[in-house]
Amino acid sequence: MAYDGKILRRAQEKYEEDRSRHEQEMDRRREAIFRRQPRLRDIDRELKATMAKIIRSALTRGTDPSAAIAVLRDENLSLQRERSALLRAMGLPEDALEEKPLCPLCGDSGYRPGGEVCRCLREYCAREQKKELSRLLDLAGQSFESFSLDWYSEEERPELGISDRENMDRTLRTCRRFAEEFTPGKSGNLLLFGAPGLGKTHLSAAMAREVSDRGCSVVYDTAGHVFSCFEAEKFGRETEDRDGSVERILRCDLLILDDLGTEMTTSFVLSALYQIVNTRLLERRSTIISTNLRPDQIAQRYSPQIASRIEGEYKGLPFFGKDIRIQKRG
Ligand SMILES: Nc1ncnc2c1ncn2[C@@H]1O[C@H](COP(=O)(O)OP(=O)(O)OP(=O)(O)O)[C@@H](O)[C@H]1O
Ligand SMILES: [Mg+2]
Ligand SMILES: [Zn+2]
Repeated sequence: MAYDGKILRRAQEKYEEDRSRHEQEMDRRREAIFRRQPRLRDIDRELKATMAKIIRSALTRGTDPSAAIAVLRDENLSLQRERSALLRAMGLPEDALEEKPLCPLCGDSGYRPGGEVCRCLREYCAREQKKELSRLLDLAGQSFESFSLDWYSEEERPELGISDRENMDRTLRTCRRFAEEFTPGKSGNLLLFGAPGLGKTHLSAAMAREVSDRGCSVVYDTAGHVFSCFEAEKFGRETEDRDGSVERILRCDLLILDDLGTEMTTSFVLSALYQIVNTRLLERRSTIISTNLRPDQIAQRYSPQIASRIEGEYKGLPFFGKDIRIQKRG
């Protein structure tokens, strides 16, 4: 789990809002009960006071606190019994006054005793991340469910020995499995390549959503925008979200780099792409690249260091067919 600072901060804000709303709601409910039965307010105060006394005697050095604690415990128990009886008489459950956290695992702190992010806060992160992803991707519309093989011809393509549909069936199955089994540090890398309008971005969105739902950090962006983030950082240019964009691109569990090859190939682009591909491979972070370039064109366009890493470490998934953008329009 490596959510970047921006997502974590937004998630924490939302989390804090919900937590304080929950606390206010609990206070309101307790106050209403106290108003109906004022004796309960006294009991509540006394119980809190005896708890404090118990803690104090336990911490006092040089004396054996057990006798004093036993007395206090008895006092406590009889107060608790009186409270239960009063609540029952009001037709309320015995725990009606208890301050229950929303998450019993972390007591609404968001963090487990070991320091890791609790499941509850992680859900907030996943939600914020999904908002971020859906700024650029149609996560709702472009899912595995809405991906149809009907758009691909069943006729055998001579150079493949299989039809476009059979090819796409394989590609689809690989993408589904990749998303369903995604494990940070274990899932490899994919290279989606083929002509325009064949479903590369659609399947990327479907994988982004699924992996994000699994609680992993996902960054989706076009190659062009990613390179401009690197450039902005290099030149220290202030951008709207400078929140370590480069850091998130390098460190997220899954990076989806869309439309590689549409940018101008400058030496800056070559070094940024090398840094992305190489750093992520070394740290075993998964990357999905989609491009209109064929693998041999990648080798021509980028450096041999980049091409050999992509060729050796990325599973190539070819897209063949007739442009679905055009088919849908017609
Ligand atoms: N198999 C499919 N079933 C349903 N809709 C599809 C399928 N493949 C693609 N589409 C739709 O066709 C349009 C183009 O697809 P997409 O954007 O994924 O193409 P692409 O391969 O990324 O193209 P480009 O190389 O130009 O970026 C999108 O609206 C997408 O939802
Ligand atoms: Mg695309
Ligand atoms: Zn929790």
